[in-house]
Amino acid sequence: MPSYLVTGAGGQLGQCFKSVANEFSECTLFFASRFEVDITQPQTLKSYFENQPFDGIINCAGYTQVDQAEKETSEANKINVEGVQNLIDFAEKKSLTLIHFSTDFVFDGNKMGSYFEKDATNPLSVYGKSKLAGEAVLAKSKCQNVCFRVSWLFSPFGKNFVKTILKLSKTKKEINVVDDQYGKPTYGIDLAKAILASLNHPGLFKQNTYHFAQGPETNWFGFAQKIVEISGNDCEVKPILSSAYPALAKRPMNSVLDTQRMEKNLSLNSRNWEDALLDCIKSIKNNEEF
Ligand SMILES: NC(=O)c1ccc[n+]([C@@H]2O[C@H](COP(=O)([O-])OP(=O)(O)OC[C@H]3O[C@@H](n4cnc5c(N)ncnc54)[C@H](OP(=O)(O)O)[C@@H]3O)[C@@H](O)[C@H]2O)c1
Repeated sequence: MPSYLVTGAGGQLGQCFKSVANEFSECTLFFASRFEVDITQPQTLKSYFENQPFDGIINCAGYTQVDQAEKETSEANKINVEGVQNLIDFAEKKSLTLIHFSTDFVFDGNKMGSYFEKDATNPLSVYGKSKLAGEAVLAKSKCQNVCFRVSWLFSPFGKNFVKTILKLSKTKKEINVVDDQYGKPTYGIDLAKAILASLNHPGLFKQNTYHFAQGPETNWFGFAQKIVEISGNDCEVKPILSSAYPALAKRPMNSVLDTQRMEKNLSLNSRNWEDALLDCIKSIKNNEEF
């Protein structure tokens, strides 16, 4: 039975993997938070492996603070590029497989229509550049590897848009949300299940990159409206332009990911994000008071 180490296990996606692990008896997962395995400190990975060997790594660790990265370029690169290189070096040495995650923010958003894996990248932010550089080192690596680009991740765990909107809409009568940035939300639980279901799929490592995101495409305003509608909170969501909501990092106006490659090659048919959102909010409400 193959075993995988999930790095960054304390983060949003890491916790998603943890919450579904017991549904996948055909693989064993070990979970290491940043305190156990720091991907910028290769010695921590080596020590973990010596104590508990594994066959592959699912890297959920990353620097993910999009705006803060504009002021912390070297920290973002240290984690998203050097950290990934450290995992690659170890994976090559021990013949491990490596599954990694990247972002829709590798695109500049100028394309009309959705982005294919092969489309030209041109990140607008330090975060996007660091994630693209992480993809580049992975593409050169000799270990068996694959990178899943995902967008607008939400789940019951960590910090994310769904949890923020639920909180705001509980206490405010109206909230403003940008309606000119388009993308596809992705439920972290569905992503984790899809990866675990694909671990033995012959197509998994046949491509460098897959897009994983859930349709239909929307904008942040539409996403927020749906969140408030499901929550039943008494709050009006109002559309605003990105120009009225200044942020340190520039974001793509269109980062809709085309997902046909993973649908065809991995036989994955992901449900739409609206159905996933119902499950997500139900799960959050079971744990917290909204
Ligand atoms: N969130 C999104 O909307 C989104 C969208 C597209 C792609 N992605 C990608 O999806 C992946 C998972 O994102 P996420 O939402 O789960 O992010 P997250 O919640 O920020 O989780 C990242 C985890 O990595 C940990 N970490 C940071 N530096 C580390 C290091 N040097 N060694 C080990 N662990 C380290 C963090 O620990 P600390 O909390 O202690 O720093 C955190 O637990 C990332 O690759 C991200 O780029 C996310």
